Amino acid sequence: MGPFSVVFTFLLTASLAYYVYTPFPDGVEEPWKLMLLDATFRTAQRLGFGHYIRSIRRFREVLLESDAGEDFVPGVKVSDVTFSGVPVRVYEASGGQGGLRRGLLYFHGGGWALGRAKKGSYDKLTRIVSAELDAVVVSVDYRLYPEVQFPEPYLDCLAAAKHFLSAEVLSRYSVDPERVGVSGDSAGGNLAAAVAQEISQDSSMTVKFSAQALVYPALQALDFHTPSCIQNQNIPVLSRSSLVQFWIQYLGVDLSLKEPFLSNQHSGLQQPLLTPELRARFNWTLLLSAEHQKNQSPVVAGQGLEGILEKAPGLLDIRASPLLANPEVLSKCPKAYILTCEFDVLRDDGLMYTQRLQNVGVQVTNAHYKDGFHGCFSMLFWPLEFDVGRRAFRHYISWLQDNL
Ligand SMILES: *[C@@H]1O[C@H](CO)[C@@H](O)[C@H](O)[C@H]1NC(C)=O
Repeated sequence: MGPFSVVFTFLLTASLAYYVYTPFPDGVEEPWKLMLLDATFRTAQRLGFGHYIRSIRRFREVLLESDAGEDFVPGVKVSDVTFSGVPVRVYEASGGQGGLRRGLLYFHGGGWALGRAKKGSYDKLTRIVSAELDAVVVSVDYRLYPEVQFPEPYLDCLAAAKHFLSAEVLSRYSVDPERVGVSGDSAGGNLAAAVAQEISQDSSMTVKFSAQALVYPALQALDFHTPSCIQNQNIPVLSRSSLVQFWIQYLGVDLSLKEPFLSNQHSGLQQPLLTPELRARFNWTLLLSAEHQKNQSPVVAGQGLEGILEKAPGLLDIRASPLLANPEVLSKCPKAYILTCEFDVLRDDGLMYTQRLQNVGVQVTNAHYKDGFHGCFSMLFWPLEFDVGRRAFRHYISWLQDNL
């Protein structure tokens, strides 16, 4: 064991001794490992170097984000460039017959605040994706909170997308214009869904995405009492409280409003901007199957936070909340792969989006992992590896092989 492994093991042990055991529901994958992970993240949050987001970043960098190195996946050429001023890392598989290749634009997760394309598990993941798909993968280092807020991260992603989809850039990288996809996990899945909608609406774009692969995407910020939010509110890696925190940071809502957001007061009945038509787009009693409604009752606050939708326009903006798009926008979207996990507060966002896309005739494959949890897809490497993550990743790859 190297010095980092020793420190890591020590921290895990110390963390475990420090925190009380939290029981998980039956069926969650490898619960002890998940508990250790949760305790470790909570330790990081309390260490505190300046802004708490920066302390989590530092912690992840030191302990979890070891560099992949050139031989991690031999045969993938890596270059760091900018696309319309946005830093991206380009992975070019060298396999195949030298003809045109697939292209995939990737946005990493991390609550619009954490994660780096060039670091740790994301760097490893995108190297493997490039090799497996014989593709040019472009992983985007969009700017993050607290340095910026919505719409900046979205605009970075959109600018990188438009650049990649230009005839000149596709030809420079030998990418087949008919086979370019967009993908991302968690907050990155949010960005991928939003960018896919925008590109499919934009008549000036001659090349469009032909597929989107969304891994447990966050798609709406109006209902934090979906059945999955309630069922999984204390399940690591993403608690309901952290979900709300990430959203209000991203949308520039005053952090003191976290409690009213947790009780859905921001989408209460007295919000004049929330018309019945708009409400139907995120109404899970209409959009989820009986099985996924889990006998929950909707929570619709009787009164609202006055003026909140005017003060935080991102709450109703489809560039932040793609689930709110109208049927016409949705009908133009590329075919979709939507991965959802049972033990994830975001499960119902993905399931509702699946339903809404299917309602307007878009082909959707929903891969639902009954033993999955939020974050498992990028936990494929020591010391954070989960069997369900490997299965989810394999299936994602095979869908892209067949559909891109
Ligand atoms: C959601 O849909 C159900 C079923 O149509 C309806 O009864 C309910 O009023 C809707 N909820 C809201 C908040 O609009």
